[in-house]
Amino acid sequence: MNIAIIGYGKMGKMIEKAAIDGKHNIVTIVDPVVLESSAFPGTRVYKRIEEAKNIDDADAAIEFTQPATAVANIKALAERKIPTVVGTTGWHDHLDEVKQAVEKAGSSLIWSSNFSMGVNLFYRIAWYASKLVDAFPEFDVGGFEAHHNKKLDSPSGTAKTLAEGVLDRIERKKKVVWETLNRKPAPDELHFPSLRIGSAPGRHSLIFDSPADIIEITHNARNRESFASGAIRAAQWLTTGGKRQGVFTIDEMLKDLLGI
Ligand SMILES: NC(=O)c1ccc[n+]([C@@H]2O[C@H](COP(=O)([O-])OP(=O)(O)OC[C@H]3O[C@@H](n4cnc5c(N)ncnc54)[C@H](O)[C@@H]3O)[C@@H](O)[C@H]2O)c1
Repeated sequence: MNIAIIGYGKMGKMIEKAAIDGKHNIVTIVDPVVLESSAFPGTRVYKRIEEAKNIDDADAAIEFTQPATAVANIKALAERKIPTVVGTTGWHDHLDEVKQAVEKAGSSLIWSSNFSMGVNLFYRIAWYASKLVDAFPEFDVGGFEAHHNKKLDSPSGTAKTLAEGVLDRIERKKKVVWETLNRKPAPDELHFPSLRIGSAPGRHSLIFDSPADIIEITHNARNRESFASGAIRAAQWLTTGGKRQGVFTIDEMLKDLLGI
C-alpha cells in the first residue's frame, strides 16, 4: 500500500515505523513543524496537504494531528479522493460536516478514537461477559483504569466506552461513579475509579465479584504500537475488498472482520 502520513508527531512516527515494518511505501509526509523524516533523513516533510509531493499516489492517508486541524485535512483529502484513516480525537462534533464532504466527493473515511485492535477486542470480550453475568445477581460489577502520571484527564476515553457498554448489558447497574466514594456505593452504581501512576501506558480492568469468586478481565497496553498497526489495518480494510465509499467507524470494520 502507498501511504501518506498526515501529522508527524508521536503517532505519525509510530505509523511510519509500522508501515516500514509492514513493507508499505510512504509516499509523502505532512506536518507544519517538522522538516524531515526521522526514518529517512533528508526526506522532506511538507507543511500542507496541497503542496505535498506524490500525495495523489497514496492509496490511503493516515491522519493523526490535532482537533483544530483534522476537519480541514479530512476535507482536503476527500477532495482528492484519497481514502483516509482518522485517528485524531476531539473533532467529532463536526462529524455531519465531514460526512457531507466525504460523500459529496465520493471518497471514503474510517475514524476511531482508539485504533488498537487489542482494545477493540477487549471491549467485545468484556461486553459479552457482562451479558452473561447479567443473569447472575450474586456478582457485583466494577473496575478501574490506570495510566501514567502525565495524563491530563480522567477517566480515560477507553474507560468511558467500556463502562457505557457494560451499563447497556447489566440491568441492575444504572450509572457509573468515577470519583472517590466517601460512602457505600448504591447497588445500581458501577464504581470505576482512575489511578495515575508512573509510566503505565494504560490498563483497564473490569471485575465481576461474587461472595465465592472473582472474575477479572484486563487489557494492559505495552506501548502505542497497537494504535499504529490498527490504523494501517484500517487503511487496508478501507482500500481492499471492493470499493468502499462513505464514512465508517471501526465498529463496521470489526463486524466485517469478525463476522459478528
Ligand atoms: N485513535 C487512536 O487510536 C489514537 C491513538 C493515539 C493518539 N490519538 C490522537 O491522535 C492525535 C495525535 O496524537 P499524537 O500523540 O501523535 O500527537 P502529537 O502532538 O505528538 O502530534 C501531532 C502532530 O500533528 C501536527 N500537526 C498540527 N497541525 C497539522 C496539520 N494541519 N497538518 C499536519 N500535521 C499537523 C503537529 O505539528 C504534531 O507534530 C491526538 O488527537 C490524539 O488524541 C488517537
